[in-house]
Formats: sequence, structure tokens, C-alpha cells
Amino acid sequence: MTRTAILGMGHYVPSKVVTNDDLAKMFDTSDEWIQQRTGIKERRYIEKSGIGASDLALHATKMACENAGVEVLEIDAIIFATLSPDHNFPGSGCFLGDKLGLGGVPALDVRNQCSGFLYGLQIADAWVRCGMYKRVLLVGAEVHSTALDFSDEGRDVTVIFGDGAACAILGPTDDEDQGIIDVEVHADGSGAKELWLEAPASAYEPRLTHEMIDNKSVYPQMNGRHVFRWATAKMPEVSLSVLERNGVTVEDLDLVVPHQANKRINEFVSQKMSIPPEKVVHNIQKYGNTTAASIPLALSEAIQEGRAKKGDLVLMPAFGSGFTWGAALVRL
Ligand code: UT7
Repeated sequence: MTRTAILGMGHYVPSKVVTNDDLAKMFDTSDEWIQQRTGIKERRYIEKSGIGASDLALHATKMACENAGVEVLEIDAIIFATLSPDHNFPGSGCFLGDKLGLGGVPALDVRNQCSGFLYGLQIADAWVRCGMYKRVLLVGAEVHSTALDFSDEGRDVTVIFGDGAACAILGPTDDEDQGIIDVEVHADGSGAKELWLEAPASAYEPRLTHEMIDNKSVYPQMNGRHVFRWATAKMPEVSLSVLERNGVTVEDLDLVVPHQANKRINEFVSQKMSIPPEKVVHNIQKYGNTTAASIPLALSEAIQEGRAKKGDLVLMPAFGSGFTWGAALVRL
């Protein structure tokens, strides 16, 4: 039976490094607080206005194609996961397709926040296995820095987010020992307003007012403790569900690449599942939370560093706004 393999991965982060001390110059926070509560030391921001998620994705795509040994023009479908599209519409997948010279190639935007890469992976897997497409570009890319509240009021959210992009080229393989084994995803909209960006909104007329800017509903709002509780419950739950369904134990796993929202969340999840710390990939200290980009960014780096190798069995759990959550099990 045909399976879907990750043929190659790539990532890109902007060059502008913003440390915790840099943020502490703008509002009331400290390097100590941020490191203790989140594990983050620094994050990247776009260098100047005018750089969108699709621009970051363009660099990542070139690296992924090179690593996959695939020409850009061989890509026959794009899936673009982001919560910070370049513009409200059209989707960032269309902008990226144009930048890659892929006129006519279908482009699907996925709006599932921190779980976006997993939702995209499930779709890409189905497309490839049914023979519809042969070279799917799956992107996770975000520019958060242009919608953050750099004041005391927004500090809980602002310190965690960073910009970045990463992607995978997916294609068919007959190798039974390689590829996507399973992807399980969920959503529960009862938590929608616990982590959201309210405005501009088509639900309001007009969509954007001076009042919305003044009352800060143009910045993401989060009930951090509530999200934390859900994340630490749902990530182990969905991970164990995927492992059990596929007859895999925690001992069988070579690597766990979790969504990078907060190092404490991932430590908590690994403890709950008895995963040895050395099997868990963290890069949140360098990039903060890059939402849809975070899992592919961590996996791509792990492959580049030789920490993730062909044949490794990898678990990728995520939780985020929506609420949405899921886990993927992949043999590299
Ligand atoms: O990727 C999407 C999913 N997102 C997540 O999974 C995030 C989940 N939540 C979290 O990671 C944590 O809730 C945060 C890191 C966002 C916050 O950590 P916390 O331990 O839950 O802190 P808190 O919001 O309960 O605030 C504790 C204290 C408060 O002060 P008081 O009331 O105790 O005096 C806050 O005002 O820390 C204060 N605080 C800060 N202090 C310095 C909140 N943010 C900051 C800050 N710097 N940036």
C-alpha cells in the first residue's frame, strides 16, 4: 500500500533576534520571569514591515526542496497553515504559490493555529495516499510580531510569540517502514475565546473601529492558565490514543517533537507519559512559540542537526487556539 513520506524539510527564521531583555525595555517583564515560566530566551521578528508569512515560507520551501531532491516546479499542491496570513484574503498559499512560480497549482490555507501543521499533515497524507497529488508542499509559517501588544497589559501573550516558517515536502513511498503512520486531530470551540484575536471581525460592522484599537481587541488575548490546563490534559490524551491505536509504546519512540508553546507544558506532558527528557526536542528557547511553524521548525532543525534520522519513529503532539489539538506518528 502506498504511504506518504516526508521527502524533505526546510525552515527559515528572520535575522532579527529579540531577547527577553529587549522586551523588558518596552514593558514590565524580566528575563528571569520569562525563562522560568516559559523556557524562552529569545525569539525572532521580521526585520521590517512588508515581510509576510509567505515570504518566510518562500525561504523554507527552497531549503525543503533541496533536502527532498525535488524541483520547485514538481510541487503539485500547497497546504499553508497559519494564523497570521499575509492578508485577510486571499490565503497565504496563493501568495506563496505565485512567489514560487506555481501558477495553477492548488493552494489551501489551513486556519488551525498551533495544530495547523497536524491538520495539514492529515490532509496531505490523504491526498498522497489516494493518488491525487505526488509532491505536496505543507507549510507552517507565522508573523506574530506585527500584532503584539508591547505594553504591560499584553505582556503575558507578547513574551511567548515569535516569527518563523518551516515546511515539509510530502510524496508517495512503497516503503512499508517509512512515512506517516497516523494523524489524529480534534477541536472544541467552547474554548474559542480563551485564546483569540477578536478584531478586525466580519461579525462586526464596521469590522475595525478606533475603539477596537484603543481597547486592544486587535491583539491576541489569552486566558493562559486555562489554556495551560487544557494543553497538559489533551496532549497526553491524544498522544496515547495514537500510540495505542498503532500498537506503539512510549519505549518504541525515538523522538518526540511537541508544539513549542511553553517548555513547562512539554515537560509536564513528557512526565505524564514517562517519556525520557532526552527524547524530547525543545527549541522554544531560541524562537518562542511560532504556532503553526513550531513543530516543523523543531523537526527540520532536529534533522539538520542529525538528531532526527531516517528510520526514527517520531511523535508530534500539539494543542492550541480553537481549542484544537492532535498528534501525528511518523517514521522518518
Ligand atoms: O500555543 C498556543 C497555546 N498557548 C499556550 O499553551 C500557553 C499556555 N499558558 C502559558 O504558557 C502560561 O499561562 C503563561 C506563560 C502565558 C503565563 O504563565 P502563568 O504562570 O500562567 O502566569 P499567570 O498568567 O498566572 O501570571 C502570574 C503572574 C501575574 O502576576 P500576579 O497577579 O501574580 O501579581 C501576572 O501579572 O505573572 C504576571 N505576569 C508577568 N510578569 C512578568 C504575566 N505575564 C508576565 C510577564 N512578565 N510577561
